[in-house]
Amino acid sequence: MEKKRMAGEEAAKRIQPGMKVGLGTGSTAYYTIVEVGRRVKEGLEIVAIPTSRETERLARELGIPLTDFRSCPRLDLTIDGADAVTPDLQLIKGGGGALLREKLVASISDELIIVVDDSKLYDSLSGLAIPVEVVPFAWETTARRIEQLGGRWTLRERNGETFVTDNHNYILDTVFDEVADPADLARRLKLTTGVVESGLFIDMANEVAIGTDEGVVWRKK
Ligand code: A5P
Repeated sequence: MEKKRMAGEEAAKRIQPGMKVGLGTGSTAYYTIVEVGRRVKEGLEIVAIPTSRETERLARELGIPLTDFRSCPRLDLTIDGADAVTPDLQLIKGGGGALLREKLVASISDELIIVVDDSKLYDSLSGLAIPVEVVPFAWETTARRIEQLGGRWTLRERNGETFVTDNHNYILDTVFDEVADPADLARRLKLTTGVVESGLFIDMANEVAIGTDEGVVWRKK
């Protein structure tokens, strides 16, 4: 937790007065949001867009001013967590199930900073769980299509019930033994009927703040 806190708080320092900011989801982005809330109380003027209902609740509690996509077509910076980061900053996200909103927010951000602890660093994405958001209708058919792409899958559950995303979809946690070309896999998943979005974030991150025993280490593209 200490490493996550260090990374989350360090990245929050990049936020400048007047910025429009995307607020990520998860236990590392949490520390960024709390730090942003602290700075807002001290007078920092920003507006933010949350990437999940959970983050929206937290931001409101902390008094962080929120905006929407109509009045804010672009963001200066988004700070978010990740489940896996490769040396060339390809990411897996969606462990918390917020991948679609996270990708939408990241896609309108001039800069995406990822905050992780050093347990999230991998040489490749082969064999790692890749969350895929699918529409509930005929999800079994979509799962079969994912098998044809070479993936195994499990339907995500929470407390014995099928997990439902903020967008009323399901999550298939998929595993591909060999992910030689993450961009190609992301394209194939995206082209699969029934798939809404995958947790592969290709060429989206600009920098990663990594919490380590020696402090925060930054990794750039
Ligand atoms: C949420 O859907 C995810 O993309 C999170 O950003 C990711 O799972 C990282 O979460 P933690 O910081 O809690 O590990």
